[in-house]
Amino acid sequence: MENWQSRFAFLMAAIGSAVGLGNIWRFPYVAYKNGGGAFLIPYFVALFTVGIPLLIAEFAVGSIFRKSAPSSLKMISKKAEWVGWWGVFCAFFISIYYSTIMAWCLCYLFHSFSLIWQPDAANFFYNKFLGVTSSPSVLGGINIQIVFALLFIWVSIYLILYKGVKSIGKVVAITVPLPTILLLILALRGLTLPAATTGLEFYLSPDFSKLASPSVWLAAYAQIFFSLSLAQGIMIVYASFLKKGSDISNNAFITALADGGTAFLAGFAVFSVLGYLAYQTGVPMEEIARGGIGLAFITYPTAIAKMPFAASFFGIIFFTALLTFGIDSAFSMVESITNAFKDKFAISREKATFVVCMIGFLIALILATGGGIFWIDIMDHFISNFALVFIGLLECLIFGYILGGEKLREYVNEVSEIKIGKWFSIMLKLFAPLVLISIALATMAELISKGYGGYPTWTLVIGMFIVIFAIIISVVVARLKCQQEQ
Ligand code: ALA
Repeated sequence: MENWQSRFAFLMAAIGSAVGLGNIWRFPYVAYKNGGGAFLIPYFVALFTVGIPLLIAEFAVGSIFRKSAPSSLKMISKKAEWVGWWGVFCAFFISIYYSTIMAWCLCYLFHSFSLIWQPDAANFFYNKFLGVTSSPSVLGGINIQIVFALLFIWVSIYLILYKGVKSIGKVVAITVPLPTILLLILALRGLTLPAATTGLEFYLSPDFSKLASPSVWLAAYAQIFFSLSLAQGIMIVYASFLKKGSDISNNAFITALADGGTAFLAGFAVFSVLGYLAYQTGVPMEEIARGGIGLAFITYPTAIAKMPFAASFFGIIFFTALLTFGIDSAFSMVESITNAFKDKFAISREKATFVVCMIGFLIALILATGGGIFWIDIMDHFISNFALVFIGLLECLIFGYILGGEKLREYVNEVSEIKIGKWFSIMLKLFAPLVLISIALATMAELISKGYGGYPTWTLVIGMFIVIFAIIISVVVARLKCQQEQ
């Protein structure tokens, strides 16, 4: 049985998984779009009402059953195993597009030396770097630069994981503190630039009227879900390597607050620099603060190139921070699926890791084409907004009603430094399911009435098909007889 070498190693791994690419540009942008400083209210409500209870529950389930998500859920109820598989297959799909974005970061790390994206970073990103095609139906050619970067990322993931949790512990001791220090340097640099306060005012000025809109609350819950790496079997498998009787609730609070704190800090690093860019170019902040992928690969690089000194250096720091923040999230997703196969089919860790990394790399090649960016967006939308929310909902019901919310709470209080009250089981059994079902229904209604991202309907059907396909393979794999049962 594998174990973390220390509590610190477990905490670093959990924080490393939670803090990722999502915190650096997704959080600041989502916050700005949904009420600026006022967004912190729904964000922290979401953290305490769903994020932390589900994180405590996942940690507890992992440490009680000491197995991957599907096997742990099977021990709760045979009928629940497929839900665990659904989560790990989603983690696998996310790891595929996540690795592609990391491959872009790696290429941009090298491009930072020459600041090659100048003078028009958008033209460079879309036309020269990605060679974006006219629509998702045209994939275009494969970009060799991205293929090599992808190969590097997947080989790194394999090398980190194949030996086991001991080597994960050593890697996260670097990949968690290092990017945090880099982010602090970026925030300090940003804050000392002229007009940094314009950007910060824009990021933080509270627009309380937005709090009346349900979509703002939905955005907060969706952000918490993705960011805390919930419903993907990751936190369950990481907790399964804890020694019996290890603390649960304090570890969950530390992980969740570190995740939220890093996102908040990232807002300072990003928006101070955007304020400077607005000042330099005379373009209004509203236009500068366009989010999504463009923020990291177009807007921020443009601002970096305009820095008064050592522009390349800050480019290198930014992309190194993104890569090191991303790698521990990426390998935690792969760890979730390899352990699921290892538990079910009694295959070795090396073999499972090799096969998963190889398949992950091969599928990611589709995303290294000119049409790849469209498919990344579509996959991300359907998996995070539908699949993860539904899996989270099912987990709350399974943990709350079949395993028993109060039983789980008793276990947590027996082993933990922080004792949790009855609120835990109330959140798990009533509040979280109600909120998650509302999110799922509202998102579905929006998809049906408005579509998504201006994409043709057939692409959205494929997006939905990916979610349904993941359910089908989960049910099939869950029904397969495992080695021990034959
Ligand atoms: N939790 C990871 C992130 O926020 C996936 O990027």
